[in-house]
This record gives sequence, structure tokens and C-alpha cells, in this order.
Amino acid sequence: MKKLSILFPLLTLLVSCNSGKFKESKTFAGGKVVSASKLNMGHDTYLEYCVQCHGYKGEGDGPSSKGMYPPPRNLTQGIYKFANVVGGELPHDEDFYRIINHGLNGSAMLPWDLHGDRLDAVVQYVKTFAPQVWEGADKTLGTKYEIPKDPFGDTYKHVAIEKGKKVYHITAACTQCHRGYENKETISAYNTEINNAPLKPEEFAADLYQLKPQDGEYNYKVIPPDFTYHPLRSISNVESIVIRLMYGVNGSGMPGWKDVVTDEELWALAYYVDYLREFKQDVTKREAFLAKTQE
Ligand code: HEC
Ligand code: HEC
Repeated sequence: MKKLSILFPLLTLLVSCNSGKFKESKTFAGGKVVSASKLNMGHDTYLEYCVQCHGYKGEGDGPSSKGMYPPPRNLTQGIYKFANVVGGELPHDEDFYRIINHGLNGSAMLPWDLHGDRLDAVVQYVKTFAPQVWEGADKTLGTKYEIPKDPFGDTYKHVAIEKGKKVYHITAACTQCHRGYENKETISAYNTEINNAPLKPEEFAADLYQLKPQDGEYNYKVIPPDFTYHPLRSISNVESIVIRLMYGVNGSGMPGWKDVVTDEELWALAYYVDYLREFKQDVTKREAFLAKTQE
């Protein structure tokens, strides 16, 4: 009994130390008012789950961050890659909830088992690292698009993939950053079909079959994925690819394609990327598939 009575005040002291960081409520973008006790709960949750990577001040320099690729996000920048909002605009809380609960495939950002008040609290706390973008009732949340209807469906999936190949290599020229997946003869034939002229040998970029790292806004080179090899951060199915293509990957160089290509082309590209993703399952099939680009 004696031991307990000494421990008790000590414990409450420790807890109140952590929870006393914020004394006042804050108003964030979209007019969201968050109480001091919510922010303190977020602070405690962050110290338990996030600090080892994202760092005490949110600068992405926690003790586990060394040598990590991609590096943990510097949350003081206030820019985010995978929110479903127009590039450069602010995520909604549901975007943060999704990213935290699902994680980002192929990165150290795992799915975190946080729900309800604690999930919301840690999201609100993350905003305090970037007051320049979040604080103030005048700030607004990002624009969301409606997802266009799938014009193909499972029945016409093969049509979508064939169309996607052409949009990928010619109309949208995704190979500016990503690699090509067809040989030059085939790509030239696509150009004849779309632009009425074959491609001359000197019109093919020397790095057609390479990944072109991008500078982006995150202070490290961002490598565009090879869809037949790399895990894709925010992708789980064809619809999730359509969503990513609409918004792009903010600040990474990967542009948004909504209204740059038609809705039908968006879905065709998504089916095509999903088809390429399947080669990840089978090394032999992948090698045979990529061998034709050496022809
Ligand atoms: C083991 C390391 C690690 C831990 C722990 C971790 N993260 Fe991350 N986090 C990352 C990495 C790495 C990225 C960058 C992924 C990328 O750029 O593709 C990231 C990215 C993010 C992003 C940016 C998402 C975007 O769309 O740009 C947010 C927000 C974030 N983390 C919040 C959290 C929160 C909140 C926690 C705790 C609940 C947490 N992270 C725990 C490694 C971690
Ligand atoms: C200017 C360069 C650039 C162009 C052009 C480009 N991308 Fe990207 N793309 C990137 C980069 C860089 C990434 C990696 C982003 C990251 O992980 O931070 C990326 C990532 C992706 C992803 C993965 C998203 C995720 O959740 O991990 C998909 C899918 C994708 N691009 C498809 C396309 C398609 C299809 C096109 C053509 C319509 C295209 N990209 C054109 C640079 C580009």
C-alpha cells in the first residue's frame, strides 16, 4: 500500500506533464475548432505511435528515419502527397484517417491501428506542425472531384487495357517519367493510329525504358514506380488508380490528369496500370513481358 501511494502522485505528474502542452483551442482550415484537451490527446498519441519516424518537431527526422526511402514526411512543410484533393490544396480529415488506417504500400508508413477520438486527435495534432497552412478560420479545404463512371466494366476490360497502352505511350506520354512497356515498333504503330505518322528512330527518348527520378518539393529525388515491380502507395484496385490519376501525387512531379485526358481515357489508363501490376506476382512472366522491349 505504501508503494502505491508514492507511485500515484508520480504517475499523475507524468501524465499531466504530457497533456499540458496546449492550453487553448485552435481553429483550423475549414473552420474546424479543436479543443486544447483534444490537441493534448493528439500529442500523447503522436509520441506513442509516430515520433520515432516523424520526429519530435514533425521534421521527419525521428531516430528510425535514418536511411529510410522514401523518408518519413517532414510534416512542417504542410504539403501532402496522397490526399484526394486537387494538387496543392489541403486534405480533409477523412484523407488523413484513410492514410493513417491504410498506410502507404511499400513505405515505412504502415497501417496504424487508431480509431475514434485518438485517430482524430492525432490528425489535429499533425496540423499544428504546419500552422502556416492550417491555422486560421479563413483557410479552406481542398476541392474533391466526383469519380467518373466506369465506361468499360469487367466485360470490356481487355478493350480498356488495349486503349490504355496507347494513351500511356502516346496521348499522355507517361513515359516522360515512367518507363515504356512496348517495343519501339509497337509504339510507332500507336503513333500512326493516333497522329497519322510513324515515329522516326531519333524521336524515341534514350531513356524510354528507364525510370526518370523527379526533384519534387520534398528535398529528395522521387522515383516514379515501375508498375510491374514497385508497390504503389495508395493503390488497391482499378478505382483507386482512377482516383490517384485524377489528383496526381502532390509535390512529387506526378501531375493530375483530370480534364487533361477524357474520363474514358482515365479509366483505360487505370485498367492498363492494374494489368501491369499483375506482373509483380510472377518474376518469370515479368521478365518475358519486359524482354519484348529489348526487341
Ligand atoms: C516507421 C516509420 C513511420 C511511422 C512510425 C509513421 N510514419 Fe507517417 N510516414 C512515414 C513515411 C516513410 C512516409 C512517407 C511516404 C511517402 O512519401 O510515400 C510517411 C508519410 C506520412 C504522412 C504524409 C502522407 C501524404 O499523403 O503525404 C502523414 C500525414 C503521416 N505519415 C502521418 C503519420 C502519423 C500520424 C503517424 C502515427 C500515427 C505516422 N505517420 C507514423 C513513416 C512513418
Ligand atoms: C512528370 C513526371 C510524371 C509523369 C508525366 C507521370 N508520372 Fe506517374 N508518378 C511520377 C512520380 C515521381 C511518382 C511517384 C510519386 C511518389 O511515390 O511520391 C508517380 C507515381 C505514379 C503512380 C503511383 C501512385 C501511388 O499511389 O503510388 C501511378 C499509378 C502513376 N504515377 C501513373 C501515371 C500515369 C498513368 C501517367 C500518365 C498518364 C503518369 N503517371 C505520368 C511522375 C510522373
